[in-house]
Amino acid sequence: MPQVLLNGEYVASEDAKISPMDRGFLFGDGIYEVIPCYQGKPVGLNLHLARMNRGLSEIGIKYHADSEQWTKHCDFLQSQVEGDAVGIYVHISRGADSKRFHAYPDHITPTVFAYAFAIPPSQSLDREKAKSFKVVTKEDLRWQRCHIKSTSLLGNVMHFQQGQDAEKDEVILFNKQGFITEAAACNVFVVINGEILTPKLDNQLLPGITRTIILGSLEKHGGFIVKEQDIPLETLNEADEVWITSSTKEIGAVVEVDGRTIGDGMPGPLWKKAQAAYNEYKFSF
Ligand code: PDD
Repeated sequence: MPQVLLNGEYVASEDAKISPMDRGFLFGDGIYEVIPCYQGKPVGLNLHLARMNRGLSEIGIKYHADSEQWTKHCDFLQSQVEGDAVGIYVHISRGADSKRFHAYPDHITPTVFAYAFAIPPSQSLDREKAKSFKVVTKEDLRWQRCHIKSTSLLGNVMHFQQGQDAEKDEVILFNKQGFITEAAACNVFVVINGEILTPKLDNQLLPGITRTIILGSLEKHGGFIVKEQDIPLETLNEADEVWITSSTKEIGAVVEVDGRTIGDGMPGPLWKKAQAAYNEYKFSF
């Protein structure tokens, strides 16, 4: 039975219990992270912890994740799962109160939970073997604080399900102005005329750590033209490549959007170069 972390203790997953009065359960009142690890090494651990600490402070949960302590937790939790590709899920809720009341109580202790799970192996650079994705597009109907990695994911879950109902892998979302925001559980990149575009950061999308590391890796590698800007949905009609990125997918090449084939229907040449640059630098952020 794998062990999980609950409130500072490692316990068998079947013994990890939290109260139904926990505000994470009642209100989705919490912040989470998913930290990928390959061959025992976390990717972007400090970036993940910094984003989590920012989110916690933004919603007034009094918990600060310490890098040294979480390095140890990641090491231990990874040992609980088979395989070289492991995700660490971290969930900090505001904690359990004696009654259900919307306002933040100031006397409760945050609930801290983490466990490890297998994620897909790092992407193959072989265009024929790399996992590719089919997506549909939908208007983004989520809340206006998508930059917070909140555990209140119903909006994302409902959008993701739209993709599943269409038998596709993901859903690329666009706002009322017709600009791409992100996908239900990923950030989005579009390659057009040799340029790599991704939506600029604001309240409409999560500042993905994979996105940050990709941008940093492309810059370190050099030779790419990268722009963070508004991307009209119609750009997808002309795109040479489309990528979705996340901690469990790295750079995922999209080969179909709303039934239209992208490029030659296989992960594209820039995808391969970008994923190679990401592999080269991913442990240095
Ligand atoms: N999802 N945007 C959304 C809405 C996400 O849920 C995610 C990640 C991302 C990419 O962020 P990052 O590169 O930091 O993983 C963007 C995680 C993996 C999840 O909910 O499981």
